[in-house]
Amino acid sequence: SNPVAKAVINLDLEGPVISRHLYGHFAEHLGRCIYDGFYVGEDSPIANEGGIRLDVVEALRQLNIPNLRWPGGCFADEYHWMDGIGPKKGRPGMVNTNWGNVGENNHFGTHEFMALCDLLGADPYVNGNVGSGTVREMSTWVEYLTGTADSPMGQLRRENGREEPWRVPFWGIGNEAWGCGGNMRAEQYADLARQFATYCRDHGDNKLYRIAAGASDDDYGWTETLMKAVSRLGGQREPRGYFQGLSIHYYTVPGSWENKGSATQFSVEDYYRTMVKARKVDEIITGHSRVMDCYDPNKRVGLVLDEWGTWWDVEEGTNPGFLYQQNALRDALVASVHFDIFHQHADRLVMANIAQTVNVLQAMVLTDAEQLVLTPTYHVFELNKGHHDAASLQVHLQASEGTTREVGEDQLETLSMSASIKNDTVLISLTNLDAEQPIRLDLDLRGRSLGTTTARILTAETLQSHNRAGAPAAVTVRDFDGVSTSEAGLRVELPAHSFVTISAPV
Ligand code: AHR
Repeated sequence: SNPVAKAVINLDLEGPVISRHLYGHFAEHLGRCIYDGFYVGEDSPIANEGGIRLDVVEALRQLNIPNLRWPGGCFADEYHWMDGIGPKKGRPGMVNTNWGNVGENNHFGTHEFMALCDLLGADPYVNGNVGSGTVREMSTWVEYLTGTADSPMGQLRRENGREEPWRVPFWGIGNEAWGCGGNMRAEQYADLARQFATYCRDHGDNKLYRIAAGASDDDYGWTETLMKAVSRLGGQREPRGYFQGLSIHYYTVPGSWENKGSATQFSVEDYYRTMVKARKVDEIITGHSRVMDCYDPNKRVGLVLDEWGTWWDVEEGTNPGFLYQQNALRDALVASVHFDIFHQHADRLVMANIAQTVNVLQAMVLTDAEQLVLTPTYHVFELNKGHHDAASLQVHLQASEGTTREVGEDQLETLSMSASIKNDTVLISLTNLDAEQPIRLDLDLRGRSLGTTTARILTAETLQSHNRAGAPAAVTVRDFDGVSTSEAGLRVELPAHSFVTISAPV
């Protein structure tokens, strides 16, 4: 018989607010993310504003992108911002050594990035250069962006066409300092992070949320060293505030780094192994949170997962340094499971950025010349918009049968759920990871009564289904009729490999 489950949601017991910044994005100078993706240049036949592609902007505006991280990634620690301002023909070029050794003409720089954020309605998250930059360089960049028009950098900004300071809420102090960001030891980076952060000043009303470059995966030792460093005496209860956020990176790579597997050609076993790896992000966030709790019990320092997502072998025939991969229904389910986990950690996790928004890794949008395709992952972001800044509601699994699978040595829970409430509207997200079987779920809704429900579903014929120019809606959102009212609340018949959202007024 098919799996069944029962869960309870107390609609009147509101938990921590799910920051909209958990739905953040990331755009690096890597492959075709910036050039060809976001930016085609003013002379392009593709409709653009100041070189920024308008079809991409239009698609992404539907997602209410809360923030965009730029210019890297690894690229950030080789980027010298002064090369990317002023008349384009005078901008020096460089070689993008991290990503394919291709030329970078610096035509997309600070002003172009801020214009992009403006068009998207997203908060900028600028990632500064610690690895090969100087304290002065980072400090003047902050002044250039946020200083008054009469400051030296503000004057330079005005000469380049922008009078008013911009608002920049988020600032990264380097990236992956343990690797491409300088191959440092945690102690060395911790000292540098304090030093660099000191000179990233708050100018006028602009208050920076400084984010230190954190650990990868389960390197809890890195987090411990950083947390010691943020509290001046290495143990006092209230961190002193050199930086306000600490990042971690966690990618879903079920194979080895040498052989990550194809984005679209995989077996059911590969699929289940992917889901085990995706769900592991819970353990990773819990582990880093536990370390942070020891130094910061009042949760004043935020955990920022500023790179996450699937990482597959590149599509055949594409530059291996460009990290261009397709995006299947499997990727969408990885995303929906991540969001359920993020919502459960809303008290410590303040931001997350999927890697990356356009044409790189787990993208929302894939472009090919003038064509644009929305990926299955895009639709998860769209369906979950209602969780932005909503109060989380706990979903308690009361009983279940058949929703656990053995995957190698691991147990995979195939039902994933989360819920929130905002403006008297409840949003429930449900994922059935079972590749073949539907799950019957009875939701016991307590505390408040629910009005008429609206339900939508993202699924497809196969786990490998994906969208491409010739078939742009192979994986798309439809209305869902598998929800009925029951005595306690709702009965949901969740189809195999599907993501469902139910919203209703209370
Ligand atoms: O997102 C691609 C790369 O992955 C980033 O540049 C780096 O920070 C990480 O290793």
